[in-house]
Amino acid sequence: KKKIAIMTSGGDSPGMNGVVRACVRMAIHMGCDPYVIYEGYEGLVRGGDLIRKMEWHDVRGWLSEGGTLIGTARCMAFFERAGRLAAAKNLISQGIDALIICGGDGSLTGADRFRAEWPSLIQELEANGEYTAQQLAPYRHLNIVGLVGSIDNDLSGTDATIGCYSALSRICYAVDLIEATASSHSRAFVIEVMGRHCGWLALMAGVATGADFTFIPEKPREDNWREEMCSIVEHHRKQGKRKTIVIIAEGALDRHGNKITPEMVKDLLADKKGLGLDTRITTLGHVQRGGTAVAYDRMLATLQGVEAVKAVLEATPETPTCVIAINENKIVRKPLMQAVQDTKKVAKAIESQDFDLAMGLRDTEFSE
Ligand code: F6P
Repeated sequence: KKKIAIMTSGGDSPGMNGVVRACVRMAIHMGCDPYVIYEGYEGLVRGGDLIRKMEWHDVRGWLSEGGTLIGTARCMAFFERAGRLAAAKNLISQGIDALIICGGDGSLTGADRFRAEWPSLIQELEANGEYTAQQLAPYRHLNIVGLVGSIDNDLSGTDATIGCYSALSRICYAVDLIEATASSHSRAFVIEVMGRHCGWLALMAGVATGADFTFIPEKPREDNWREEMCSIVEHHRKQGKRKTIVIIAEGALDRHGNKITPEMVKDLLADKKGLGLDTRITTLGHVQRGGTAVAYDRMLATLQGVEAVKAVLEATPETPTCVIAINENKIVRKPLMQAVQDTKKVAKAIESQDFDLAMGLRDTEFSE
């Protein structure tokens, strides 16, 4: 019986449990034995009871659970060859040669390297006398398939990563709550959202809540950003708006590569010589990442989990590692490393959106 292992890696995202559930059940449906690896790459390196066989009922109720129930961890040992050798040994000792990983682009890149290195790891296990050539014969290739679990929506080649719409919904909900108190006091709020390298969450939250101004890493602000923001905010205030909402991604930058921080924005809005707005900062933090997945992420997790099992069973040594994506509502397979490379070239948050137009629809900006 073919054995397929499933693990989650990198920052957790809503929908990861849905992925594990779908993969476990689809594997059983396809006549395979599913395994899960607890604690991400840490579990792969440490092995033992961190690699466990799963049954159909083990994942009952997982669709509506937040986080990742099989854990995730940052693992330094996997960066070392000795760690990867231990990982290979652990997989072989359980009879596993197919791996499905749900994580961000860093975790998936690590998986691709592991697959490329696999033949030499096998050779080393044989040379060390851990296994005979005959024992290793069924394990000459490691098939790996990736699924993108990330709230940041930061991988090119897929319309949405698993978890991004849950985080976006939570941000919108939080902004709505803040707006009520902001209007009451006629205050300004600077709301920091996640996104160290990718501003999709900040940008879409700005569009979805009609925020006055957004800062994202992909659109480094020009030197005149202070005047630009203040004149927009002032214009909105003159139109009678009683609240000011500025959404800033963690990784916001100016065009010199300097960080733009919520404190800088707050001081500017509050400056008595300028707008003099009563301003507060709210950092949404990890509430964006925790909690249950919205319907879209559960659907994506399930459909992509099913496809991942099919893909890992069909993979050949010649095919490049694939990642399961969604394009125009269709679940598709894409070469993983191509998607990773494109991500470095394309500013994902603004690749298909008319950023300025969407943001310009706020309030009264085009009305006169
Ligand atoms: O990768 C998702 C993400 O949410 C980033 O946007 C954020 O910068 C980071 O994780 C924070 O993660 P942690 O607190 O786990 O280091």
